[in-house]
Amino acid sequence: MGKSIAEKTLILGIDTSCDDTSVSVVENGSRVISNVVSSQDQIHKKYGGIVPELASRKHIEMILPVTEEAMKEAGVNFNDIAAISVSYGPGLIGSLLVGVCFAKSLSFVHNVPMVPVNHLEGHICSIFLEAMPEFPFVALVVSGGHTSLYIVKGYGSYHEIGRTRDDAAGEAYDKVAKLLGYGYPGGPVIDELSLSGNKDAIVFPRADLNGSFDFSFSGLKTSVLNYTKKNPGTAKEDIAASFQEAVVDVLVRKAVSAAESNNIRRIVLSGGVSANSALRGTIQHRSRERGIDVFLPSLHYCTDNAAMIAAAGYHHYLNGDFADISLNPKACLPLGSADG
Ligand code: KG4
Ligand code: ZN
Repeated sequence: MGKSIAEKTLILGIDTSCDDTSVSVVENGSRVISNVVSSQDQIHKKYGGIVPELASRKHIEMILPVTEEAMKEAGVNFNDIAAISVSYGPGLIGSLLVGVCFAKSLSFVHNVPMVPVNHLEGHICSIFLEAMPEFPFVALVVSGGHTSLYIVKGYGSYHEIGRTRDDAAGEAYDKVAKLLGYGYPGGPVIDELSLSGNKDAIVFPRADLNGSFDFSFSGLKTSVLNYTKKNPGTAKEDIAASFQEAVVDVLVRKAVSAAESNNIRRIVLSGGVSANSALRGTIQHRSRERGIDVFLPSLHYCTDNAAMIAAAGYHHYLNGDFADISLNPKACLPLGSADG
């Protein structure tokens, strides 16, 4: 029932799961024709985190102009679009509602099928916009809301083998940046500060959790807080670099160990924190030593974007996984199966 231009299937992706309004047109799940992202960083910066009510209001204001821009940039109209792919969870419920309601309206008015996509699946599929790693691979999703390890056996086949038991890695970055006196998002600030800091200045705790593939970052965050209170004169650069070293060390160790213990030779990184320079450098270095290939999305596909939602949506479109007008967003939405 989809429409196509000369075997080219165009999917319109929509993501409003958190604080970015994004719309994209992607061909055959991999070639990005347009990808427009309207960031709300300036709005939330002064609060040290996302204010959900402000986020939803801004999505309402931006969703139409961002969509028009994405369509115009791609030089297409709705007759060319095979399906509308929308993030329906997990995320901030008010933010998700804007994208889902908008997608439903477009689907109804233009008679184009709608494909619901899990935002986390979108992050994993961001790699398909630039590379085609062979299955199976280990996927580490590290964002502001999630930190999970998956074994990906094929499109739509996700098995979660570990997840954070408390804070997400990005959340820890944001909170540590806030306590050092910086605004939201904290990840890029800590990344930048760390470049001129000593990562061995302070040894912050790493949660091993008895060798499981789960993560925990709340103890680390508290440890940074206590350290800064007790040692007010310490250079922020050294605190940032030492904190980052602790986060990166655990993320890389567990991702590599997940690959090795499952006899998998490929690791895919995704999510906002995968834009981190130390994480990218360390995982490449440690994986190369072990003969594991690492796949890293470009920086603009690490953070939230709708191209990744269109990439994931393409495979659901091929399977005919459509939703009707009764689709509702879900703040909590697990991806695939899980251990335990
Ligand atoms: O994937 P994303 O854009 O949104 C969610 O789905 O959560 O991730 C946002 C998170 C924020 O916590 C932000 O601080 C973090 O990604 N982040 C980074 C970097 N760039 C963004 N963390 C560390 N280093 C970075 N360079
Ligand atoms: Zn995200």
